[in-house]
Amino acid sequence: MLAKSLLLCMASAFVAASEVAVYWGQNSAGGQERLSTYCDSTSVDIVLVSFINGFPNLEVNFSNQCGATFPSGLLHCPQIGEDIKYCQSKGKKVMISMGGASGSYGFSSEAEGSEFATTLWNKFGGGSDAERPFDDAVVDGFDFDIEHGAETGYVALAEGLKSYFATASKKYYLGAAPQCPYPDATLNQLLTSVALDYSFIQFYNNYCNLGPNFNWASWAEYAATVSPNKDIQLFLGLPGSEVSASGYTPSATVNKYLSDIQCGPNFGGFAIWDASSAWSNVDSNGDNYAVQLKNLLNEADPCTTSASSSSSATSTKLSTTTAATTSDVLSSSAFYGNVSSSAVPSASE
Ligand SMILES: *[C@@H]1O[C@H](CO)[C@@H](O)[C@H](O)[C@H]1NC(C)=O
Ligand SMILES: *[C@@H]1O[C@H](CO)[C@@H](O)[C@H](O)[C@H]1NC(C)=O
Repeated sequence: MLAKSLLLCMASAFVAASEVAVYWGQNSAGGQERLSTYCDSTSVDIVLVSFINGFPNLEVNFSNQCGATFPSGLLHCPQIGEDIKYCQSKGKKVMISMGGASGSYGFSSEAEGSEFATTLWNKFGGGSDAERPFDDAVVDGFDFDIEHGAETGYVALAEGLKSYFATASKKYYLGAAPQCPYPDATLNQLLTSVALDYSFIQFYNNYCNLGPNFNWASWAEYAATVSPNKDIQLFLGLPGSEVSASGYTPSATVNKYLSDIQCGPNFGGFAIWDASSAWSNVDSNGDNYAVQLKNLLNEADPCTTSASSSSSATSTKLSTTTAATTSDVLSSSAFYGNVSSSAVPSASE
């Protein structure tokens, strides 16, 4: 009995994480509703409000969800502020995401990045400012979705934010949204030198999407050997439907990949670009794509099952190293942190 509960206890260390993060704000499919609508879903755990699309001269954009402005011209979005608090009351984390595919942003020096930490803290975090886009709502963290320009300033910005976090009683989070080619073209310095809580990796619009060149293994290896935070949570980022990005994959197919990656120690769940597309993508059961992905995560946990019923099988699987090729990578242990360089084609955008 004691042995059994010990075993179960050890097994529980392998329980796969099961969070779903959704980007909200850019209305990729049309029909985007207020933020609270999405926070009414039990399938959503993290909302990434997008975007802070201009800096260092602060500019935000939430498509059809905010139009009013402060005297400076900065958007003033009281309803989003209310909804952020509503989402938090439902136990969701609300992070604000900076960057995006379009947008005019970038720093010319580390000092400029460092200064911008003060702006972000005062406008969205625990600081204060006469013009806070979300009024007194305080976000739970910041996400770097930097897709163009130089890497200059982002490490200093993240370190500046961390200094502010250290002064607060509430826990704040940092995330980054690299594209799947490894290493990322604009976030590598941040990913390699700052301890981040999350990486919402974009497995879309790229050769390394779900498919023959799926390169989760590179990211699992990054988490295990390169990330300053060895507990970084890696999210498999997917389009919410055909319309939001290339590389859309129906949930039944996603499930075939999931069993090979979800027992890895850094698997955090799914990230979806974006809420509007996921909600417009409903299956025959009436479940939208976020619900479908959450259901996959909630299904019987293969990690717990194998750890408690057959620990030798598990340890064999975890310790076998394989020089993975793209064809055997899905059935190999590569996803637990080992990948041969041949499985990682060089990045091309
Ligand atoms: C948000 O960005 C879109 C796309 O660039 C633009 O058409 C729209 O006018 C912007 N909205 C606001 C309120 O600035
Ligand atoms: C991964 O496996 C290869 C081939 O077995 C091995 O040479 C390499 O050292 C391993 N790398 C890591 C990080 O375990």
